[in-house]
Amino acid sequence: QSGLLHKYKGILFSSMSSEGLLDSLDSFDAREDDIFLVSYPKSGTHWVAEVIENIPNVGITLTSPIEWGDVSKFEELKMVPKRRVIPTHLSYEMIPRTVKQKQCKIVYVIRNPKDTAVSLFHYYRDNPNLPSPETWAAFLELFLKGDVVYGSWFDHVLSWEKHKNDKNVLFLFYEEMKKDFVKSLNKITDFLGFDVNDSDISKIARNTSFSEMKSNAVKENCDPNHTICALTSDRNLVFRKGVVGDWINYFTPKQRSAFDELFMEKMEHSDVGRCLKEYTNSD
Ligand code: A3P
Repeated sequence: QSGLLHKYKGILFSSMSSEGLLDSLDSFDAREDDIFLVSYPKSGTHWVAEVIENIPNVGITLTSPIEWGDVSKFEELKMVPKRRVIPTHLSYEMIPRTVKQKQCKIVYVIRNPKDTAVSLFHYYRDNPNLPSPETWAAFLELFLKGDVVYGSWFDHVLSWEKHKNDKNVLFLFYEEMKKDFVKSLNKITDFLGFDVNDSDISKIARNTSFSEMKSNAVKENCDPNHTICALTSDRNLVFRKGVVGDWINYFTPKQRSAFDELFMEKMEHSDVGRCLKEYTNSD
């Protein structure tokens, strides 16, 4: 596709994920108290990371993504003295073995795939680390074929859905966070075992609103140590619109039916698919 991406076991990765690192994922030594923040790109990862970081006295260090860098990565992660929150866009299959053995807590963020596709389209266009697509139509075709970074949205979600009810896994829906932020926040703090009071909650809500995060991104310097998505360290590329349902402005009726047909086929037996339907239908 371009020199910016490379295929590893059939899946596209950015050049910031070295083959050596991907090869050595299973040698990562997880700690029992590690928290993994997992998502398909553009599902709300930065938002959830910010929420966790804003919990008072949380005592964690947010690291860069586990798949970002080269083979020296795990030595770096070993040096983190505090409890680690480790973001990643990896599918379930690629998650290091010790994370599964030690049953580390995993927060999986999911967003309806039509909005995810539109958001990823803009990311492809604006992010110098990704090849610029010619048109929305051309990009959507790649998205549906799974010929985009981290592969098919459907395969990613289905790989994780098998573990949705594991006791160490929490599924968070972007749309639910938008609809009832406090409810989602309570889910996060209950799951991770942190206490927050009402004044903490309103403070967290304020600090992690889209407008607040967007304006902070403009003020911040680009800090590679604060990289959440392995596709960029530049937070100015992340905060675009932050709404539910923007897809309606992009999909033609024909694209909609192609999408819906694939969605029905892939998500036929998926509970998550049923939950998301409300957001992929416009009528
Ligand atoms: P849009 O491109 O639709 O605006 P990720 O963090 O996984 O890369 O996801 C990025 C998407 O989440 C972008 O979607 C971004 O605007 C949105 N987002 C980031 N912070 C948000 C917030 N605080 N509230 C709502 N949406 C947010």
